[in-house]
Amino acid sequence: MSAKTGSFTFGDKTIELPVKTGTIGPSVVDIGKLYAQAGMFTFDPGYTSTASCESEITYIDGDKGVLLYRGYPIEQIAERGDFLETCYLLLYGELPSAAQKKDFDHRITRHTMVHEQLASFLHGLRRDSHPMAVLVASVGALSAFYHDSTDISDRNQRMTASFRLIGKMPTLAAMAYKYSIGQPFVYPKNDLDYSSNFLRMCYAVPCEEFRINPVFARALDRIFILHADHEQNASTSTVRLAGSSGANPFACIAAGVACLWGPAHGGANEAALKMLMEIGTVENIPKFIARAKDKNDPFRLMGFGHRVYKNYDPRAKIMQRTCHEVLNELGDKDNPLLEVAIGLEKIALSDEYFIEKKLYPNVDFYSGITLRAMGFPVSMFTALFAVARTAGWIAQWKEMIEDPGQKIGRPRQLYTGPARRDYVPIERRA
Ligand code: SDX
Repeated sequence: MSAKTGSFTFGDKTIELPVKTGTIGPSVVDIGKLYAQAGMFTFDPGYTSTASCESEITYIDGDKGVLLYRGYPIEQIAERGDFLETCYLLLYGELPSAAQKKDFDHRITRHTMVHEQLASFLHGLRRDSHPMAVLVASVGALSAFYHDSTDISDRNQRMTASFRLIGKMPTLAAMAYKYSIGQPFVYPKNDLDYSSNFLRMCYAVPCEEFRINPVFARALDRIFILHADHEQNASTSTVRLAGSSGANPFACIAAGVACLWGPAHGGANEAALKMLMEIGTVENIPKFIARAKDKNDPFRLMGFGHRVYKNYDPRAKIMQRTCHEVLNELGDKDNPLLEVAIGLEKIALSDEYFIEKKLYPNVDFYSGITLRAMGFPVSMFTALFAVARTAGWIAQWKEMIEDPGQKIGRPRQLYTGPARRDYVPIERRA
C-alpha cells in the first residue's frame, strides 16, 4: 500500500494527515490523529464517506457495478463455483485445491447437526414467530452450547466456531421453518451437498422419500454465493463492532442477523416481494412509481437503490437469470410477479427520477420471486440471506480478530444537547 499525506486546514490551523492507497478503489485519509492534533472529530453519520477498516476480502465498485470476492468477479464464481468453495475463498483468501475442497466440505458437513436441546429451546417460542426472530435467538443460544469454541484468542477455537456457524445456520433456518408449519425437524444428511441438504431439511417429511430438484439445488447454491459477502454493509459492520469488544463469535453473528432483518437491508427481499404482490398487475405500476417519487410518501421501491451501487447491482443480473431458470423448470414462464418485476424495472430505468438518483435493481429485487417459486414462504427470505451472509460475516470477523492493530470500536459524536445545568427538586418544577 502506497502512502502520502494531505494538508488539511481548519481556521488558522493546518495539519498533515497520512493518505493511504489500497490495491484498487478510493484512497483513504487516516484521521486517527485528527482529534489529538485539531481537537475536532469528523462527522459522517451514515458512513457515506468513511472507511471503517482495511480489508482484503471483498471489493465493490459502485459506479461500474463490480463485485469481487478475493479478486474473483462474482459472475465467474456464481457461474463456475459452489457455495462452500466460496466460503473457503472468503475465509482463507484463495480458491481451494481439490484436496482442500474435499476436506473443507467434510468439516462443514460434520458440523451441520445442532445440539438436541436446541430443539427444546425452539419449542419455547411461539409457532408464529418470524424466522428471523428464531434465528437471532437460536444463533445467540449457540454460545450456551458450544463453550469449547468461544475463546477468540485460540485460533483452533476461532476456526471451529467458524465451521460450526457455516454448518449450522442452514439447519437452524430449516428448523425455524419446520417449527412454523408444525412439521417435525429433519436432520441433515452427510451424503448431500450443502444446498441439497438445506432443501431436504426444509421440505422432506418422515412419511416419504424426498426427491431433490437439481435445478432448485443449483439455483439456491448460486443465491447463497451471491449473498455471501458484500464489503462493510450494515450487518457486517455490526458483526465487526460486536467482535471488536471480544464478544464470542456466536454472539457477534447473532448481532449480524438482527441487523440484517431490517427492510432497508436484508429484509428488502421480503419487502420487495410483498411490494410486487401489492402492485399485482403491470397496469398498476405507474401508480407505485409515482408514490416512490413523491417526497411526502414514505413508500420506496423495495429492491431498488443501493448505498454503493450507482449502477446495476451485478448480483441482480445473475439473480434475474436464476429466476428465469427456476420458473422455466416449473413451466411458469408467465409468472405474473415476474411480469410485474420486469415491467417495473423497465419503466423505472427510463424514468428521470431513477436515472438522476442512479437507482437500479439490487440483489433483493428478483430473489423474492425465485425463492417463492421454490416454495419458500416470504418470511423465510431474509433467513436465507442470513444463511449465506454468515460466510462473509465470519470471514470479516476473523480478519478483524487476526489484525494485530485491532482495537475496540468506539465512535464519538457531535453533541447538540443541553449545556451543563443544575438539578431542580421536583417541588420547584413547573
Ligand atoms: C441490501 O450495503 C449493502 O451492501 C447491502 C446489501 C448487502 O449485500 O449487504 O447490498 C443488501 O441491503 C441491498 C439494499 C436493499 N434495500 C432496499 O432495496 C430498500 C430500498 N432501497 C432504499 O431504502 C435505499 O436505496 C437504500 C437504503 C438501499 C440506500 O439508501 P441510501 O444510500 O441511504 O440513499 P438515500 O436513502 O439517501 O436515497 C438517495 C435518494 C433519496 O432521495 P433524496 O432524499 O435525495 O431526494 O434516492 C431516493 C431517496 O428518497 N431513493 C429511493 C429509493 N432508494 C433511494 N426512492 C425510491 N425508491 C427507492 N428504492
